[in-house]
Amino acid sequence: MWYLLFLVIVILSASQESLVLSSSPTPKSPHRCLSHQRSALVQLRQDVLKHYDPSVRFDDNSSMKVQQWKLERDCCSWEGVTCDVAGYVTGLNLNYSMISGHISAIFDLHHLQYLSLASNNFRLRLEEPNLQTFFQSLNALRELKLDYVDLSAQGSNWSDALAHALPNLQVLSLSFCRLSGPIHPSFSQLKSLSHIGLDGNHLSSEVPHFWADFSNLVTLSLRSCGLHGSFPEKLFTLPKLQTIDLSDNSLLTGQLPNYSLNNSFQQMILYKTNFHGKLPDSIGNLKFLTTLLLYNCNFTGWSPSSLANLTQVLELDLSYNRFSGPIPPFPSSTVPKLVDLGLFYNLLLLFLSLAANNFNVSMKLDIFQSLQNLTSLDLSDNNLAIESDDNEGFTFPSLEELRLSSCNLTEIPKFL
Ligand SMILES: *[C@@H]1O[C@H](CO)[C@@H](O)[C@H](O)[C@H]1NC(C)=O
Ligand SMILES: *[C@@H]1O[C@H](CO)[C@@H](O)[C@H](O)[C@H]1NC(C)=O
Ligand SMILES: *[C@@H]1O[C@H](CO)[C@@H](O)[C@H](O)[C@H]1NC(C)=O
Ligand SMILES: *[C@@H]1O[C@H](CO)[C@@H](O)[C@H](O)[C@H]1NC(C)=O
Ligand SMILES: *[C@@H]1O[C@H](CO)[C@@H](O)[C@H](O)[C@H]1NC(C)=O
Ligand SMILES: *[C@@H]1O[C@H](CO)[C@@H](O)[C@H](O)[C@H]1NC(C)=O
Ligand SMILES: *[C@@H]1O[C@H](CO)[C@@H](O)[C@H](O)[C@H]1NC(C)=O
Ligand SMILES: *[C@@H]1O[C@H](CO)[C@@H](O)[C@H](O)[C@H]1NC(C)=O
Ligand SMILES: *[C@@H]1O[C@H](CO)[C@@H](O)[C@H](O)[C@H]1NC(C)=O
Ligand SMILES: *[C@@H]1O[C@H](CO)[C@@H](O)[C@H](O)[C@H]1NC(C)=O
Repeated sequence: MWYLLFLVIVILSASQESLVLSSSPTPKSPHRCLSHQRSALVQLRQDVLKHYDPSVRFDDNSSMKVQQWKLERDCCSWEGVTCDVAGYVTGLNLNYSMISGHISAIFDLHHLQYLSLASNNFRLRLEEPNLQTFFQSLNALRELKLDYVDLSAQGSNWSDALAHALPNLQVLSLSFCRLSGPIHPSFSQLKSLSHIGLDGNHLSSEVPHFWADFSNLVTLSLRSCGLHGSFPEKLFTLPKLQTIDLSDNSLLTGQLPNYSLNNSFQQMILYKTNFHGKLPDSIGNLKFLTTLLLYNCNFTGWSPSSLANLTQVLELDLSYNRFSGPIPPFPSSTVPKLVDLGLFYNLLLLFLSLAANNFNVSMKLDIFQSLQNLTSLDLSDNNLAIESDDNEGFTFPSLEELRLSSCNLTEIPKFL
């Protein structure tokens, strides 16, 4: 019976939050915490307090959570601690907690499914025991967040160690952990992963093709990883993928695919990469997209009348590419044509930058007048001539920033 209940909790608890809810049917019941679990936590608290170094500057948002643990209370009620109904500690969130090492007491919490030691600012280095031992003693883990923990001592062995010890991992967040690449082929076993966050590690390798088989993937974040080679286009076809961030990998090449209608993309962040080619017409199939950041890439041509179908877009930045031709989706600056096309009409656009392309055309600003919610508009350095507008009947009520340098302006736009 207990076992069944436990299973149900595991299934229900995709996130730690729901774990808290589903595992606390009687929050006031005293002393649910099993004594050996409590001992491990008390030991951890002692170690952390004993080795606290006041000269170290931690993130402003940090607080020493373990110090606030009230020893007279049930340990399952301590901040950052969650338990299952049997009294085993299943979740431990000690992010931003001013920990500078000496965490081995955690290895006695064999039922841990969620562990975050994120953002203890590199003071926390995992050297002893090695990662293999660390992961093996916590092999029930489903979510592991160690962002800003220094894992450099493991070289590139981290991915192999992880794959062997934690095959059922769902959430992996190891941003800024000083990891090196390449990612080991055994990592392909981690097919349950829904979240991969490895920003700011010096992987200096190619993006593994096997990630295209991770059908549960929702988030893939690989900002500033020194990636090179060609990005596997098949990854863009994963139906659950919502966020992809490959930004600031200037040697990474790739092209946008023909997007199917069956996609979940909300954020596509590819700036400062060597993605090239045309924007596919099928970009209009990204019906949930809120953010499209393609600046400082190598895109050319222009095929985006389908951009008008991105009805949820809040932020669109296409500056510093090699787009050419007239500014689409406005083939000419004549207002009647624009109204006929109804372009951008449904966009909830807040931010638009088309700077430093090569549009080579003259236009009037009123072609943007349907973008009533625009807060920022940047058209600078485009070989573009902004004509003076005789139509005084439009305004940008929300505009906070307007950049029109090198636009051959002859007078200040009237709506200003
Ligand atoms: C602290 O948190 C606030 C809000 O979550 C954030 O805006 C701020 O940048 C954080 N400060 C630091 C130093 O990370
Ligand atoms: C620590 O983690 C929790 C849960 O993920 C999160 O809500 C919280 O904002 C994090 N703490 C800080 C200071 O960012
Ligand atoms: C990585 O693993 C290999 C083989 O297990 C081992 O020989 C090597 O010392 C490890 N490297 C580091 C940095 O731990
Ligand atoms: C669309 O994606 C879902 C998974 O999110 C999948 O179950 C379904 O089969 C896909 N449909 C098509 C037509 O590919
Ligand atoms: C997208 O489809 C078009 C025509 O359907 C084809 O010519 C083009 O090569 C495809 N592009 C990619 C990147 O698959
Ligand atoms: C864009 O492509 C050109 C020619 O293929 C190349 O020389 C240049 O380095 C690329 N730019 C970027 C930012 O990758
Ligand atoms: C926008 O979507 C509609 C229906 O989903 C489609 O008929 C239309 O061709 C699309 N427009 C563009 C410019 O792709
Ligand atoms: C502007 O924003 C408001 C509320 O956020 C929304 O109701 C309205 O439709 C938006 N207008 C346009 C033209 O996108
Ligand atoms: C701009 O367009 C004109 C006429 O369409 C053409 O003659 C000129 O070469 C173009 N300039 C550039 C820099 O593309
Ligand atoms: C901008 O003005 C200069 C000088 O009048 C002219 O030579 C140039 O062709 C104009 N540029 C465009 C894009 O119209």
